[in-house]
Amino acid sequence: MDFQAPPPSPIEIAKTWFDEAEKAVTTENPLAMTLSTCQANGHIASRIVLMKSFSEDGVLFFTNYNSDKANEIEQNNHVALLFHWDVLARQIRIRGRATKVSDDISDEYFASRQRLSQLGAWASDQSKALQNRDALMSRVEELDEKWDGKPIPRPPFWGGYCVSLDSIEFWQGGDGRLHDRLKYTFDQAWSLTRLQP
Ligand SMILES: Cc1cc2nc3c(=O)[nH]c(=O)nc-3n(C[C@H](O)[C@H](O)[C@H](O)COP(=O)(O)O)c2cc1C
Repeated sequence: MDFQAPPPSPIEIAKTWFDEAEKAVTTENPLAMTLSTCQANGHIASRIVLMKSFSEDGVLFFTNYNSDKANEIEQNNHVALLFHWDVLARQIRIRGRATKVSDDISDEYFASRQRLSQLGAWASDQSKALQNRDALMSRVEELDEKWDGKPIPRPPFWGGYCVSLDSIEFWQGGDGRLHDRLKYTFDQAWSLTRLQP
């Protein structure tokens, strides 16, 4: 993007940066992002999840609706997302509110997953204590037999969240740490602030 003449909306820039990250990053998950949520006691929790799509509606990811992150979102749906691509000297920070997506969207994505990932979604009571790994693997085996030769339905406790784009900041590394930073904030329309590095 031309940091001297930024466009009024961040959507196309973000799409371009995500596309470029997918091309430039040769590791497995170029669209992995850190998701930070706020716990009931005010402590912050972060973990990596995978961005599955981006549009002006927001950022889509999938998870277990009974997990710690989901419980935190149910209590306070303000979240932060962070992408970093070292090879491009770029960072994107997003703040927004996470809301569950429709069953149709979750069903469609779940159906596209590999069978073992589908079984894993059923077998894992994500974020809860596990006695030992064998307990998990035997649940996977039981479920594999149960649905032998049949399509696996989406667990009712598993699906997507969409994070609205309340603000989005683009950071491009520069010489002498004189980086470029542009922060777009949405309140009925996009407004733009250039930030010191
Ligand atoms: C590269 C990578 C991708 C991941 N993608 C997801 C994901 O898309 N959804 C998910 O629920 N967990 C994903 N995880 C696991 C999470 O980081 C985390 O361990 C899990 O969701 C439990 O988090 P919680 O206990 O805070 O809810 C991923 C981990 C890594 C390292």
